[in-house]
Amino acid sequence: MHEIRSDGRLEEWPATPAGEGVLFGRLRELCEEGLAISARIDGARKGRWHSFMPADYDTVLEDLLQIRGRGGRFLELGSATGVIAIMADLLGFEACGIEIAPELVSEARGLARRYGSRARFATGSFLPAGYHYASETGDTRMGTVGISEPAYPELRYELADFDWVYAFPWPGETEVLRDVMRCHGAPGAQLLLHGYNGGLEFDRPI
Ligand SMILES: C[S@@+](CC[C@H](N)C(=O)[O-])C[C@H]1O[C@@H](n2cnc3c(N)ncnc32)[C@H](O)[C@@H]1O
Repeated sequence: MHEIRSDGRLEEWPATPAGEGVLFGRLRELCEEGLAISARIDGARKGRWHSFMPADYDTVLEDLLQIRGRGGRFLELGSATGVIAIMADLLGFEACGIEIAPELVSEARGLARRYGSRARFATGSFLPAGYHYASETGDTRMGTVGISEPAYPELRYELADFDWVYAFPWPGETEVLRDVMRCHGAPGAQLLLHGYNGGLEFDRPI
């Protein structure tokens, strides 16, 4: 997970490509501010549990750099403070995020404004209307995936309108996300899953 130095900065960071110092500086500040917001939220919870845990931003950036040239529409499922969607926007994707917790959507919109990002965020569920999960054994439990009104109408896009769909599921929830994509994703869309041991898994070869 994140290596953060005592001064609050990220330890590991991809090498800055020639001529992209300004963009990379901005991305780094964005990630550090995102982590500071997470720490503030954690502190305010005073030990109460919440399902939001930030990704390894440096690792995600490395993977976004691999697919950056392909462009397209990018969706962050469960976008929390929106750092990943904002990174994707700043790297040239048309990016959106869906988050069930309204206070996190406000944080994400504030971050997007401060970093000059056009990423859009909608409040509600990333589970499309009419979607019901059942595992191969008929288990309908979805772990920490919450139930709420679908957020797609606010975005004015369907899940099937996105080329890249990113999520950071808790262990055991990966199958729910794969099933949502099978049922409602575009046939050629790529699901990017952030694992709990760090690293991003692409659902098909890139
Ligand atoms: C592990 S956090 C991921 C944070 C962020 N995407 C990242 O990678 O750093 C999962 C987020 O999903 C949100 N969430 C849970 N169920 C949801 C649902 N049905 N629709 C939208 N967001 C949901 C939680 O509130 C939480 O902020």
